Amino acid sequence: MKILGIDIGGSGVKGAPVDIVHGTLAAERFRIPTPKPATPRAVVKAVHRIVEHFEWKGAVGCTIPGRVKHGTVLTAANIDRRWIGANAARLIEEKTGCRTFVLNDADAAGVAEMAFGAGRDRHDFVMVLTIGTGIGSALFINQILVPNTELGHLELDGRDAESHAADSARKRDDLPWKAWARRFQRYLEHVEFLFAPDLLIIGGGISRPKKWEKFSGHLKTQADLTPALLQNEAGIIGAAYSARACYEPEVTV
Ligand code: BGC
Repeated sequence: MKILGIDIGGSGVKGAPVDIVHGTLAAERFRIPTPKPATPRAVVKAVHRIVEHFEWKGAVGCTIPGRVKHGTVLTAANIDRRWIGANAARLIEEKTGCRTFVLNDADAAGVAEMAFGAGRDRHDFVMVLTIGTGIGSALFINQILVPNTELGHLELDGRDAESHAADSARKRDDLPWKAWARRFQRYLEHVEFLFAPDLLIIGGGISRPKKWEKFSGHLKTQADLTPALLQNEAGIIGAAYSARACYEPEVTV
């Protein structure tokens, strides 16, 4: 079965049909630069272009970098604030005519890692952190997602944690990997103190082997620590996989 997965990010809106049985892309990914400003109207237009590119008629799963409940976006730390209160699922359905399920981007990436990547076969307490412009989080117990946790916004040392420990902070402050790893280590210690996961999966661009090897040696965690396996396809795959509830109403995500 195939579902179109779409991942809305700060720099690109990316999509591809996904084989949700195997967790693989069924066609080459299509990417459009994220419109600036990324208003709901402009982004929904970009989503529509992706739907048209694949001449898609089936269900769509789509990510948003904010908290999402029943299709409605509730927070917008790194996206246009006009998203707050917008029913993203309905806007996409109205524009494209496709049944649409919308969820948080880190939750989607986490779902993909649990089903097809680094968390496969793990039934204990798993925390997925996506590190990029922001820090996204997804928690799983026995493979079941606790959605919308937003742990990037924990207050740590008097500030919003992601503003100091995300990859964008490394770039902004021009930090060598080791110096950034110290910040990230502090953040990991804090989330471990609060949650004590059994496995920590780190996703986002920094999970690519070439980057991972630059800083992972400086990290020490109680939990098992591993990079994500699906990297920049995780959001697309997880969004599509989560949208299977559009076909199987008894599946809840
Ligand atoms: C947002 C989260 C998102 C994360 C990663 C944070 O700023 O609040 O919803 O998952 O960035 O994109």
